[in-house]
Amino acid sequence: MSVQRATITALGHYTPPKILSNFDLEKLVDTNDEWIRTRTGIRERRIMENGASSDMAALAVQNMVERYGVNVAEIEVIIVATVTPDMFFPATAVLVGHKVGAKQAWGFDVSAACSGFLYALATGAKFIESGANKKVLVVGVDKMSAIIDYTDRNTCILFGDAAACVLLEPSGEPGYGLIDHRLYSDGAGGEFLYMKAGGSLNPATHETIDKKMHYIFQDGKNVFKLAVKGMADVSAEVMERNGLKGDDVAWLVPHQANLRIIDATAKRMGIDGHKVMINIDRYGNTTAATIPLCLSEWVATGKLVRGQNIILAAFGAGYTWGAAYVKWSLAKNA
Ligand code: UT7
Repeated sequence: MSVQRATITALGHYTPPKILSNFDLEKLVDTNDEWIRTRTGIRERRIMENGASSDMAALAVQNMVERYGVNVAEIEVIIVATVTPDMFFPATAVLVGHKVGAKQAWGFDVSAACSGFLYALATGAKFIESGANKKVLVVGVDKMSAIIDYTDRNTCILFGDAAACVLLEPSGEPGYGLIDHRLYSDGAGGEFLYMKAGGSLNPATHETIDKKMHYIFQDGKNVFKLAVKGMADVSAEVMERNGLKGDDVAWLVPHQANLRIIDATAKRMGIDGHKVMINIDRYGNTTAATIPLCLSEWVATGKLVRGQNIILAAFGAGYTWGAAYVKWSLAKNA
């Protein structure tokens, strides 16, 4: 008997209206538009001024409802990928469920940083594949501005705020939906990208605040090298496992951390630049939101077409990384 695969049947996203441009950042730290554009590909990012991650996530769900007419009362499970939950507990997924009126749903958060959406997507798919559930909402959301030190030029230029979501349902058609995925983690990478305080290791004190330990710390060079290798290796592995060559892939949907990482990954995979989804120029790195935000924007413009082979790939703090192969099944370009 063939496996009941999960497939994406609806998408939504939310990006806050406030724009923080490279020129705005020139006024905050010793940087310039040219450096940021050439080193990262970013021109501007969005900032959530009022509201938390759950508010952005709820607005993304609302967008999905408007575009696809999803009945939120039928959602059974909500999985939120985030490293900027509203608070340690309760889980942001539970708050999102309440805000959107998904009264039947239970939910939980997944913490895998920039790979969070892929981890959550793979997890959500299991509920469908097992036959346990028929409607699983997977959200990627991060309010990175809440954990950024806007006096640190190494990090403040990189990140932005956004939310995006997909609805998973049984595919009903052999060969369509989430076909395969490979996920990895290696805690030895923890020291290169993390938030030092606020957890049980270094609970918040005046000292941790004074030392700015509640902001992101990143050793960019180390992360850069491993991100290119990690994303390319795992994507190649997924392509090989499924007999796909570069020409068979319609879209590479990479995590948007740095345009140079994206270009190097695509090159190593033998995928032409015009088949790579890129919106880092407009949003920066929105952590768990980057991949579903690309999907949601591209499907809205009609560029994602039923039957296309899509490779999703991510690398992030942990380290965590992974790739997924999706045969796009959605016929509606809402
Ligand atoms: O999504 C999670 C995973 N994260 C990533 O994948 C991020 C990976 N890392 C990167 O994207 C890059 O390493 C960065 C964009 C963070 C940095 O780019 P880089 O080419 O690795 O620059 P660098 O850190 O080696 O810095 C080069 C120079 C340094 O000056 P010196 O020492 O050569 O005089 C930095 O001080 O650029 C300087 N610099 C800046 N200059 C202007 C660093 N940040 C800035 C800045 N503006 N914002």
